[in-house]
Amino acid sequence: MTESQSQSQIQNANSASQDPLDLLDGGLKILCYPNPTLKKKSTPVEIFDGELEDFVRRLFTAMRINKGVGLAAPQVGVLKRIAVIEHEGKSYVLINPKILERKGLQESEEGCLSFPGFYADVRRAEKVKVETRTVKGDTEILEVSGYVAKAFQHEMDHLDGKLFIDYLSPLKRSMIRKKISKHTGE
Ligand code: NI
Repeated sequence: MTESQSQSQIQNANSASQDPLDLLDGGLKILCYPNPTLKKKSTPVEIFDGELEDFVRRLFTAMRINKGVGLAAPQVGVLKRIAVIEHEGKSYVLINPKILERKGLQESEEGCLSFPGFYADVRRAEKVKVETRTVKGDTEILEVSGYVAKAFQHEMDHLDGKLFIDYLSPLKRSMIRKKISKHTGE
């Protein structure tokens, strides 16, 4: 997930030379919509080893370099149930996450590193209680609210091949598709 439009325009001005469709860092390339991998369902992590730790570290690097708030493994072409989130200096690792509880509603603008320059209002639960695994394989329960809860839900959707534009009306979605196809020439 990315910060709201106003904040992000400032960031874009600082990275004008970077082609948003070819973001390379930490050895990971961020796939942009309409790459078909983004619509696929990821499989659970079964082996908790050094390779997993290294991948999580690289996912954080890719997210930070691209000024994201969250990044999910399928966005870098790895169909595993792994995502990272970082907001206000706090970082979270989600591995095989499951939502145990949702409370309340929030609706605000969100973006996605796989949709550079696109933002839309999405309705999410205000609070979520999530069961996840740590990189070491331990089970952990996380309770988050507000902005972080929104990011958790956005990233967890990626693990099921669900994108934030899937919440929009068919009309809005087709407008975004048209704009993106003009941009990518596909
Ligand atoms: Ni996203």
